[in-house]
Amino acid sequence: MSKSIKTIVCAVFGATVAMSSAAFADSKADQELLQSAQAIFKPLPTFEEMQKVKKVTDAQIKLGQALFNDPRLSADQVQSCNTCHNLATYGVDNQSFSKGVTGGFGGRNAPSVLNSSLFIAQFWDGRAKDVEEQAGGPMLNPAEMAMPDEASVEKVLRSIPDYKPMFDAAFGKSANNVNFKNATAAIGAFERTLLTPTRFDKYLRGDINALTQAERAGLKTFIDVGCVACHTGVGMGGDQYQKFGLVDGPYWKFTGSKKPDEGRFEVTKSESDMNVFRVPGLRNVARTYPYFHDGSVWSLEQAVDIMGQAQLGQKMSSKDVKSIVTFLNALTGEVSEKARTVPTLPAAGPNTPHKNHHM
Ligand code: HEC
Ligand code: HEC
Repeated sequence: MSKSIKTIVCAVFGATVAMSSAAFADSKADQELLQSAQAIFKPLPTFEEMQKVKKVTDAQIKLGQALFNDPRLSADQVQSCNTCHNLATYGVDNQSFSKGVTGGFGGRNAPSVLNSSLFIAQFWDGRAKDVEEQAGGPMLNPAEMAMPDEASVEKVLRSIPDYKPMFDAAFGKSANNVNFKNATAAIGAFERTLLTPTRFDKYLRGDINALTQAERAGLKTFIDVGCVACHTGVGMGGDQYQKFGLVDGPYWKFTGSKKPDEGRFEVTKSESDMNVFRVPGLRNVARTYPYFHDGSVWSLEQAVDIMGQAQLGQKMSSKDVKSIVTFLNALTGEVSEKARTVPTLPAAGPNTPHKNHHM
């Protein structure tokens, strides 16, 4: 065989090897991993499936997007929902605590609004039942947008003439439809569209090669060490309440948190809910640092390591931690261009309060 032919044969052989490693994706082990993943997690629902959960219209979504981005709904006319849940940075502000309009900091880290409509309840302690109920909170929260009451929010909305046709389109024409309840319903409708599909969803629908081999190995570690006792379902979390420091605690031993948080105990006053939190979802987790309810940990590797110790009572090898993080990175999805684009807001009317009006 001449040298050049040998080279060709080698090249062809090399290509065959490359092909068979891709075909490895269909190996028995990979099929089994896919099946166990499909039993634990769920791909994101389609728009049609979401409509069955709660019907929302285009007009409601459009109005909700405007309200989400409208700083006139805060006491200093500066802060909107998007200030702390910036849709260009995965629905968070990447700060431990967020600064409210009066300069004070709330006591908890701002979780992402992305995919949050899928969770059993809203907030770290689950005190709001859904995104519609939640949306009323921040506008009136003194540590956030600090409006004095619902009536003052309505007064602002009614002072902006171009909101009226938008409320008419969203909720049907009527004299009093520009109200707080409809505003929160519209914001909720917009939030229900904030789903971020990933390659992992393709994987769960049966496309094994949508995840790299290293990501699949990380998924296997995530399942095998027991993270899936809590981080399950469509949000990879968000569907149950659990104590932080369940197996080894208290949790601040690991996080160094200065001020312990009672968590769900604040809502139920039941001793068994002390330091219990809604399990956070892990979609986009690589982008939503810092971690935990108090934003006490900035590195995802460290957060994973702490989870192993506090929730599972095991110190994982750094190889396992890294492997899990490789998988978690594959959960970064796409925020649609439409959602990321700040819409043109309706112009102020003669009676719209000016900056610092309430302060
Ligand atoms: C000053 C910053 C700030 C502003 C402004 C703000 N939020 Fe939040 N948001 C937070 C913080 C902090 C939390 C967590 C509070 C808690 O759990 O006790 C939160 C929680 C949430 C959650 C719960 C997510 C989950 O996973 O449970 C949603 C949804 C949300 N906010 C939507 C909104 C909307 C809609 C607006 C505007 C009407 C808004 N936020 C304005 C800081 C803010
Ligand atoms: C027994 C239930 C349980 C188990 C098991 C568990 N977690 Fe958690 N996880 C939680 C709870 C509860 C929180 C919220 C803690 C807090 O901030 O108060 C959390 C938070 C996290 C966070 C931070 C998310 C954020 O947005 O701040 C990450 C990352 C995480 N878990 C990953 C993992 C990994 C990886 C494993 C497996 C090694 C795991 N978890 C095992 C319940 C659990």
